[in-house]
Amino acid sequence: MLLSMTETTETATTDPGLAALVGLVEYDASEDPFPVKALDAVVFVAGNATQTAHYYESAFGMRLVAYSGPEHGNRDHKAFVLESGSARFVITGGVAPDSPLLDHHRRHGDGVTDIALEVEDVDKCVEHARDQGATVLEEPHDVSDEHGTVRRAAIATYGETRHSLVDRSRYSGPYLPGFVARQPLVTRRPDAPKRLFQAVDHCVGNVELGKMDYWVDWYNRVMGFVNMAEFVGDDIATEYSALMSKVVSNGNHKVKFPLNEPAVSKRKSQIDEYLEFYTGAGCQHIALATGDIVATIENMSANGVEFLATPDSYYDDAELRDRIGQVRLPIGELKRHGILVDRDEDGYLLQIFTKPIGDRPTVFYELIERHGSLGFGKGNFKALFEAIEREQERRGNL
Ligand SMILES: [Fe+2]
Repeated sequence: MLLSMTETTETATTDPGLAALVGLVEYDASEDPFPVKALDAVVFVAGNATQTAHYYESAFGMRLVAYSGPEHGNRDHKAFVLESGSARFVITGGVAPDSPLLDHHRRHGDGVTDIALEVEDVDKCVEHARDQGATVLEEPHDVSDEHGTVRRAAIATYGETRHSLVDRSRYSGPYLPGFVARQPLVTRRPDAPKRLFQAVDHCVGNVELGKMDYWVDWYNRVMGFVNMAEFVGDDIATEYSALMSKVVSNGNHKVKFPLNEPAVSKRKSQIDEYLEFYTGAGCQHIALATGDIVATIENMSANGVEFLATPDSYYDDAELRDRIGQVRLPIGELKRHGILVDRDEDGYLLQIFTKPIGDRPTVFYELIERHGSLGFGKGNFKALFEAIEREQERRGNL
């Protein structure tokens, strides 16, 4: 009862703008065996973390806030912490020649090593996860510095990806013990918006053929996640998307994880291409929530971020235009920027995808502007599939 009241209070105090932006729903946390408060951070490994951090500052408009590295006693690696609204990215790269991060990077290239979750009770979550058969990579333990104490642990998810579990309620430092505050390196243009996105909307995992249902069940059992309505089944899979997809989320939908597996289709699946170049399962894309997708695209494009093109036919097709209905932007503007629209019974969403951001054709980003819709753009699979196929063809991987 007490927990439920706490949750109600928390929901009430959540910024209503942000709630709409990422599609939050009410739920009772007292019934949750693994209550997740929020995404804590997305942790990446990069071949050159120093320059990658600069990219997220200069191209994604993120703010550098904290750092850990050899200058402060961490001889193994560098780690840069960047923020945009509630989104937090941590870019890591090996310094010591025997750093495990370099091995990870050799196997997978630039990618996500950890989708860290903020929880209230690390021990309770780990106990539940262990009971449900999860692999505990790090037992619950305290880490402290002059800013306080963080309790943390980690469990393994698909591929070589982990979920760190972080309770930072007794900590006031810029990120975690071992990190020091850092001023931005890049001076923002005077006319640049304060930020280009406000939150992480969802993180997508690509898993091996036949493993999607295994991981849906894993998130249901281990983390108490619920299944969201949207899924891409056989019908769409074979003809347009070459992938099967289901979505799991925590109780209030703040943390959403779509899970893809390749589907047998006429041509090589985009998921197969990912699995080949990432050498296994991993995080495929991260969707960034924005309240003004046009401004975000214009700024990111000017900063050198490349987006997938959408065929003109997507906007000119009469049936498609009927499906789109009335949205806040004129069709010409959608077309000019290549913005995709999807609609369901709750509303609509605008979205666009970047090209892969690293050297391997693996990790990319999505920008998403929600207007009521709790979906993920299922109706856009055909258009997206065609756009991705053209890119694959240019790389000779089709
Ligand atoms: Fe997505």
